[in-house]
Parts: sequence; C-alpha cells; structure tokens
Amino acid sequence: MTEARLEAWLDETRSFAPSADFAKHANAQPSIYDEASKDPVAWWRTQADRLSWSTSPTKTLEWDLPFAKWFSDGTLNASYNCVDRHVEAGRGDKVAYHWVGDAEGETRTITYAQLQKFVAQAANALSELGVQSGDRVAVYMPMIPEAVITMLAIVRLGAMHSVVFGGFSADALSSRILDSDCQYVVTADGAFRRGAPSPLKPAVDEALQSCPGVKAVLVVRRTGGDVTWVEGRDHWWHDIVDRQADTHTCESFPAEHKMFIMYTSGTTAKPKGIFHTTGGYLTQVATTYNLVFDVKADSDILWTAADIGWITGHSYIVYGPLINGVTQVMYEGLPDSGGRDRWWKIIAQNKVTTLYTAPTTIRTLMKWGHELPGAHDLSSLRLLGSVGEPINPEAWMWYRQYVGGNRCPIVDTWWQTETGAIMVSPLPGITATKPGAAMRPLPGITVDVVDNEGKSVGNGEGGYLVISEPWPSMTRGIWGDPERFKETYWSRFPGKYFAGDGAKRDADGDLWLLGRIDDVMNISGHRLSTTEVEHALVGHPAVAEAAVVGASDETTGQAIVAFVTLKLSADEAEKDQSGVIEELRVHVSKVISPIAKPRQIILTPDLPKTRSGKIMRRLLRDVAEHRSLGDVTTLMDPTVVNMISGLMDEHQNDND
Ligand code: WTA
Repeated sequence: MTEARLEAWLDETRSFAPSADFAKHANAQPSIYDEASKDPVAWWRTQADRLSWSTSPTKTLEWDLPFAKWFSDGTLNASYNCVDRHVEAGRGDKVAYHWVGDAEGETRTITYAQLQKFVAQAANALSELGVQSGDRVAVYMPMIPEAVITMLAIVRLGAMHSVVFGGFSADALSSRILDSDCQYVVTADGAFRRGAPSPLKPAVDEALQSCPGVKAVLVVRRTGGDVTWVEGRDHWWHDIVDRQADTHTCESFPAEHKMFIMYTSGTTAKPKGIFHTTGGYLTQVATTYNLVFDVKADSDILWTAADIGWITGHSYIVYGPLINGVTQVMYEGLPDSGGRDRWWKIIAQNKVTTLYTAPTTIRTLMKWGHELPGAHDLSSLRLLGSVGEPINPEAWMWYRQYVGGNRCPIVDTWWQTETGAIMVSPLPGITATKPGAAMRPLPGITVDVVDNEGKSVGNGEGGYLVISEPWPSMTRGIWGDPERFKETYWSRFPGKYFAGDGAKRDADGDLWLLGRIDDVMNISGHRLSTTEVEHALVGHPAVAEAAVVGASDETTGQAIVAFVTLKLSADEAEKDQSGVIEELRVHVSKVISPIAKPRQIILTPDLPKTRSGKIMRRLLRDVAEHRSLGDVTTLMDPTVVNMISGLMDEHQNDND
C-alpha cells in the first residue's frame, strides 16, 4: 500500500457505535477488558475451562523468553474436544457442517455424531498405516469434509498435520514434506474448480520422487479421474477407511504436545514451519471464536470462507468452531463457481448468520456489483468479519451496506499464522468500529505500537506493531530452527514479539494496521516472500537476475511485479519478449503456486544497485507504483532506474 493511498483511506473520524440490539445479547460485556487486564494470565486460565481436560492444569504460564509453555501439566485430546464431548453431552444430532460443493446442488450434511464416526474410522486407518504420536502427516487436499476429518484424526493420534494448500506446486509440497520429515501424505485424486476437475495426485507423485521417507499415501476419490498408482505406497480412502470400526478410544496428551505445523512465507526463500501446541492453541481459538463472532451455538450458522490450507481454515473452520459446537457452512468452490452470485445463494439457502472472509474477496464481489447481493435474501446475516490484510474503508463500507444491510457489525481481525488466533479486533456489541481499523487488542492480549527505538508511540502516530506479553496460542517456534525463531521475531525489539506489520494509533488511540514492513508480500491475503519469487525466477535457465516487489493492486491488495535481466542477448530477448515473459510467469506458478504468478514482468538490461551491489527494491517499488522516485544518489548508476521507469510505462498493460 502506498503512503498516499493509505492517507486517503484513513478517515479516523468515521465511527459506528456498537449496536444496542447486539449489545443486549452479546457474549461479552464491556467489563471484560478490565477483568482480563487486571491479571491476563489468570484470565486465560479461566478461558482454558472452555475445554474438556483429562487432567485439569494447575500451572498457567511458564515464560522463558521467547519460549512459552501454557497449562503444561494439563492433559487433553484435541479431537475429543472438537467432536466426542458434544456427542457425549447429547448434541450428536446437531449439524457440524453443511458442506456445499463446487457444483450447485451438491451438498453433504454432517452431524457431530457422524463426524465422530468418520474421525474414528480415519484414526483407525491412519494407525493401521503406521501413524503414531509425534509423527508428521502432510495433508494436500481440496475443501471436502475428508480434509477436516483427516486433520481431526491425525491430532487424535497425537500426530501432527502439516496442511499444504492444494494450490501449491509439487516443488512446494516436496520441500515442506522434507523440511518436517513427513512420513505420510493424505490427498485426493483432484479437486473441482468451477465445474472442472483439477488433479492433485500427480503433484504428490512428482513431489514424492524427492521424498523417499514417505511410507504411505492415502487418497480420497473426489473427481474420479485417472491416477497413477504406486503399489504398496498408495491406498484409496474408500478401501482402507470405510472398513474400519467407527469407534476409537483416544489418548490424552500434555497441553504442550505438538499439534500441527503450518508453513508460511518469511523474508527469505525458505518458508518457515510454524508449529503450534495443543492446550494453549485450543484455548485461544475457542475463546476468540466465541467472543469475536459472538457465537450462539444454538442458532448460528457460521461460514468462514477460507481454505483449510491456511491458518484461518485451521483456527476458524476446524478447531475454534468445533470446540464451540456450532453449525457451519463449508464451501468447496470459488466465489464464481456456478455464477457470480453463488455466495449470496449459499448465504440465503443456508441462512448463514456470520460470514468471515478476506478483503480481496470483498473487493472482487464488489467489482461484480451490488445488484447481485441485492437480489438475494441476506437478512439472516448478523455479523461480518474480515481477515488477511488491511481492509480499505471503501470495501468495508460496501460490505457493511450491501452485505450487512447496515445492521451487521464488522469485525476486522488482525492476526497471523504465528499468533495462531485473533489478537486485535473489535468485539461486536461492545467496541465501536471504524471502516479500516482493527481497533483494539482482545481481552488478555497486550500489543503496542513502537518507534525505531522500541518506544511506544503516542496517539496519532505510527510505528511497528509488537506484542508485549506472551499469549496462549503463540507459535512455539519454527520447525527445526529455534535460532531463526529468535532472530525473526524476538531480536528487533528485545523482549517483544515483532509482527512485521506497520501500525498506527489514531487520535482516539484505536489501532490501524498498515501492511507489512518487511519483504513479505500480501497477495489476496496470501503471504509470499519477494525472495521466494526471486529464487523461482533465477532458477529459470534464461534468467540472470531478478528483483521482485509487491505493488499495490485494486483487487488483490498487492500484486507481484518482477524486474528481470536475461542471460540472452538483448537482441534475442527483443525478438520474443512476450514469449519469454509468459514462460517465466508459468515457471513461477509451477515452482511455487499460481498465487505467485507475477502480474507483470519487466525485462530490463540492468537493475538499480547501490555502490555495494545491493538491489534497491525500494526504488523498484516506487517504479512499480508509478510514484516519483526518491533519493537515487546512492545508486551505482542512477540512469538505470529511469530506464526501468520508461520500460514500465511502455509495457503498462502488456501482461494482463
Ligand atoms: C496481514 C492470516 C491488516 C498482516 C490470519 C499479517 C492483516 C499477515 C489482517 C499474516 C488485518 C492479517 N488487517 N493486516 N485484519 N489480518 N493481516 O500468517 O500483514 O497468512 O502479518 O495469517 O496478514 O498472514 P497469515
């Protein structure tokens, strides 16, 4: 986001008071902030009682900066907490998921009692394949109920899932499997996208060529397409899971038992394996889901429109909602599978009360016109949520007016893969909201905005977002790399967690998130590092050098712009520029994911470098955003940047 654009967005004076209707029945009362801040650690201990513990914890926090333990002498089973305890309490007939397929009319309804049986069968099958407590299992699946069932079965056995987004390439999958030494993979033959099958199994086969440690692959039949089969390694879900007993007695594990790994982009090419443990993570996802979404388990139908392959899917499609025993909609398709009003149909048909999605999707829906939501009955909605990137006030207002009928509070929730659960957000009915502001830390959470020296900034000032006190769902580290964990998050401001986001406190002291300040880009709410994309580009035989920046984009928030110098002579490149560019875009999408495909690639004979040889990405970002260039005097050759600027204008619309 450019500064100028941000300034245009920020209208701190527009504020919506908490709705009185909402306040009357809200789960939290305004006093909650004071209660929690008196003794946040003790407050979190009371929140842990939302879970069913086999051994109730007597310890709360043990803090050996930056390593935290929460509730460490408690024991529990994550899957039992999500499923079994609801059935035992007589709520087995309650619907857990109204699953909606990519194709209109394809639905599945799964009650908690059914979910319990499916999870038991899957756990029994995974045990038969050899999965044990402590093992890592990669999950590479579409948005089908089996994805949730698989995750619950894995943690039931005390093993860890590492869910890899189904849109990632074979290379991305294999590097993640190798990094955490997964011995098992659960996948599907393919997924459906806008009615067309899109294969997944071939990527697994390709990935596993470099992963000799994988012993077994479990494959759900979803599309019915042809698949290559490795005898002895590959097993069909319907062959092995369906014949299992539908009961499974689970073991309890210590609260600090490792639960899952989720890879996310950092500032280097190598993604970080962020891992979470059981008791603290579950406590905070349960609490935040309940308070932020003001969950009424008896009447709400909640829809988190995210993919299971991201942390939002983990925390707010699987664990937070299931612990709260709610009914959800889970949707397989794209926003325009079956037509651009598909979402509105899903909301009307299922009487969805709560919708949680990302600004990039809101902007896309907005582009398609407010007539579409206007043509459907969305009166069941009572609350709207946003996550993944700063939401621009324009999109916020559109969401409020055309989706929420000017009656639904909007919760703009700031958090990260590393934080595990929501950290900063209004509480509906309690906190006022402002279009574009995440407002204030949740009860029990202490964040600050600090300047370069780590000093708190005053109201009306900006700086870096830090988290000052440990919180239950904080990541316990980066898989296999405790040094990188310390270095990345705990070294910039000693004693404080450095989130990597810019933030501002407005005149009222309310928080506005201003986007990443490091080399992490946010493309449609997906985190990608500039280095990751540069590595992919220089991996192509024709590329000599590449510099990648995230430039602001109306729909996707940021978009990737790559500046590339080729090994080919200028003449050769000149001959077939668009061919090379397209080839490079396809190459990046193959190496990382279609999400990482650059919006624009500028071929240039040179890149702007400092005298010490560092590429000046700051200048390239200015170029990509058509801004006037700042100080270029430190450049080795200041003419290069003007030349690139010229090329950029020339090729403005080439790559769309
Ligand atoms: C950004 C997604 C502004 C932020 C849950 C953060 C946000 C990164 C918001 C984490 C928000 C997420 N307002 N920015 N409400 N929510 N972000 O790990 O830059 O995929 O650091 O977790 O997304 O992305 P991640």
